[in-house]
Amino acid sequence: MLSKERRAQLLEKYPSISDLEKKAHKRMPFVSWEYLQSGTGDEDAVPRNREALRAITFTPRFVRGTIQPQFATEILGQSFSVPFGVAPVGLTGLMWPKAECILAEMAKQYDLPYCLSTVATQTPETVGPLVGNRGWFQLYPPKDPEMRDSILNRAQEAGFHTLVITADVPVPSRRERTTRAGMRTPPKITPQFVWQALTHPSWTVQTLQNGLPRLKTVAHYIESKSMKDVTNFIRFDFRGDLDWDYIQACRAVWKGPVLLKGILHPADAQMAVDAGLDGIVVSNHGGRQFDGVVPAIQALPAIVEQIEGKVPIVYDSGVRSGLDILRALALGADFVLLGRAYLYGVAALELEGASLATEILKEDMRNNMIQLGVESIEQLRELIPLSIKVQV
Ligand code: FNR
Repeated sequence: MLSKERRAQLLEKYPSISDLEKKAHKRMPFVSWEYLQSGTGDEDAVPRNREALRAITFTPRFVRGTIQPQFATEILGQSFSVPFGVAPVGLTGLMWPKAECILAEMAKQYDLPYCLSTVATQTPETVGPLVGNRGWFQLYPPKDPEMRDSILNRAQEAGFHTLVITADVPVPSRRERTTRAGMRTPPKITPQFVWQALTHPSWTVQTLQNGLPRLKTVAHYIESKSMKDVTNFIRFDFRGDLDWDYIQACRAVWKGPVLLKGILHPADAQMAVDAGLDGIVVSNHGGRQFDGVVPAIQALPAIVEQIEGKVPIVYDSGVRSGLDILRALALGADFVLLGRAYLYGVAALELEGASLATEILKEDMRNNMIQLGVESIEQLRELIPLSIKVQV
């Protein structure tokens, strides 16, 4: 955790997530940066998520005496210090070596959830002890039921509490920008690659120390350890054709809460509730899967209306500030996840950067809640009839 002095120093130098983004851009090799930033197709869905969030405005209340914002939140039987956490991000080690371990450590220190991806570059066995009981685990569904159950059991045995099944990848997205950037498995050693390695020495030295990023959780199940074989395995041996029976089979194995991630349509949200799931994640995958998708924040109100508080709703996509977190909570989300924002933190300043991302988000939430004249999320939602609902 950052000391008071260090926190103040860093907040002065990097007051917002966009400052961490700029620093991360300088420290990350081109391919890693392009992979992190990319959407798909014409890349419209990524900025659309941001525009839709930014269009949500509030009517503040004043003359309310001292305002002391409270952040502590309960969700899915766990309490956290803040109503936000880290979204699952795959190929994490490509963006920064051991990023998963850094994020897990930060999550434990700051008492917020970290969701480890099936296609992360560290295993549940490595990350579980670092994250303590703050870990959530994200599943991309393997076709082989034995492998599915084995992955789920490994994650549970490593201490992960909540399962997040990702529904919004019926097919791998084309991500032309990442292809254009020369993303190959295994990486092709070109003069540009060598130049990138030389001009990003911190990333390169740490990558050499830790080994090239590998999808270790999945690599466990195949004999060949080559990146190409593992990637092909994922392409052909993971299910795009997810169905409710498969989800029930996961439910039967996982002892804790199960969330379905990537839901945008109220009818799908209702089906998740009817299937007995414990919550949903309203998300468009940060605009990376389908370029014609609705901005995730615009899908949120109808889902909140449909679900009527029966299960918690988590929101992600496009969140870059404490104000954005408030926007999602005001529209009825119970919790918020951030993907890219946390990777910017890690790539910019490693553990200090992940911690700083949390400090920035907390500070921005606190400041904006005082500005709004509210101490709690309940009070924030009371402002809705006056303002935001009409504008979304
Ligand atoms: C993702 N996301 C993602 N989701 C998931 O369920 N499993 C995964 O492995 C990944 N991998 C991944 C890689 C990268 C580089 C990004 C940026 C995102 C989606 C992620 O969980 C989340 O939905 C988005 O990141 C949210 O949008 P923002 O916060 O990045 O705008």
